[in-house]
Amino acid sequence: MTADLLIVGSGFFGLTIADRCARELDLKVQVIDRRDHIGGNAYSEIDPETGIEVHRYGAHLFHTSNKRVWDYVNQFTDFTPYVHHVYTTYKDEVFPMPINLGTINQFQRAAYTPEEARAWVVEQAAMLEGEPTNLEEKAISLIGQPLYEAFIKGYTAKQWQTDPRELAAEIISRLPVRYTYDNRYFSDTYEGLPVDGYTAWLEKMADHPNITVTLDTDFFDESQPWNKADVVGQIPVVFTGPIDRYFDFKHGDLSWRTLDFESEVLPIGDFQGTPVMNYADESIDYTRIHEFRHFHPERDYPDDKTIIMREFSRFAEHTDEPYYPVNTPQDRERLLSYRELAKDEANVLFGGRLGTYQYLDMHMAIGAALSMYDNKLAPHFTNGLPLD
Ligand code: FAD
Ligand code: NA
Repeated sequence: MTADLLIVGSGFFGLTIADRCARELDLKVQVIDRRDHIGGNAYSEIDPETGIEVHRYGAHLFHTSNKRVWDYVNQFTDFTPYVHHVYTTYKDEVFPMPINLGTINQFQRAAYTPEEARAWVVEQAAMLEGEPTNLEEKAISLIGQPLYEAFIKGYTAKQWQTDPRELAAEIISRLPVRYTYDNRYFSDTYEGLPVDGYTAWLEKMADHPNITVTLDTDFFDESQPWNKADVVGQIPVVFTGPIDRYFDFKHGDLSWRTLDFESEVLPIGDFQGTPVMNYADESIDYTRIHEFRHFHPERDYPDDKTIIMREFSRFAEHTDEPYYPVNTPQDRERLLSYRELAKDEANVLFGGRLGTYQYLDMHMAIGAALSMYDNKLAPHFTNGLPLD
């Protein structure tokens, strides 16, 4: 077993580093992942019952305005012209999201012009007196009580399993309202879904004679190859697992939200007519339902069955998959002390969403990995500069 570099984690961050180091620098790269599949949270698989591609860790939509990232990812896959839209059900009525002129006019049974809608929202928002002291007040100060009650309150309470009046105002800095009928979800220059699915894309990145991917292998399990005790100090390591775990939770746990998914195959061709339906009412336990067939209208999927996935949100325990950083003031303080430890950890670089305790979209994870390659790994391996 020899390699020039060990990468812990086969998500987009790890595979981007693997690709650049193998293809550009001709290094021998070993990648390990503790899961039984490649790709981290972007992994998808074909549901055996319906033949429909399912994103196992929640719907993944690719979008970016970064030309370098877009050109980079297009080496590995083509993209469909898919454009994401989201709707929300509130009190048995369906509204377009994000909140836009169509949402407001439907909600108010009105025909406001953009200017009239803006004036209405400003008037509602002005009703909050004083500085907002919690998330609820902050939201009301931004969009007013009526829109908050309908579209934010229940959804947020379910996402955080906490009354929004007990959540910090800082969790939201803005709640965008569009005063046009544009309900395209993302506003990036480039958007689409990988034509042959996420897993084919991720596998293509790893498909090189210099790259070895070993699954079911945990960096912290000393009975397995490529574990921390054996490797650190021997060869450089890029670590994309949780930074608090790396340091044995020495400064305490960083807190995360996790998601639970329940999927169901239904004997009908179309359940909801759209890929993602949010549920704004607090009385419905789940936050949203994904119907995967709608991500690929170009595919030949069966018209007598469909697969849906209900999404539930809660705080993560040690054994749960960490999904979204909670980012309390205590978390931020702990993160700073972990960053200090990371700096002193010679020949180990920390990256990706777990290694930096940051929510990163796929294009951000890829962009950050390309920067780490440019700024740290290439200078180290070509000019012998230290890795720190
Ligand atoms: P990950 O994909 O998490 O990969 C890290 C890998 O490290 C994992 O495979 C893990 O098993 C492995 N690992 C951890 N610890 C160890 C260990 N001890 N030993 C070995 N391996 C280990 N992005 C978008 O652009 N669009 C979206 O629509 C979108 N939707 C999302 C929905 C959800 C619910 C979530 C959670 C994320 C979403 N993302 C989306 C973000 C996307 O998943 C991330 O950008 C991407 O996963 C980041 O890649 P990564 O390599 O940093 O981390
Ligand atoms: Na380091």
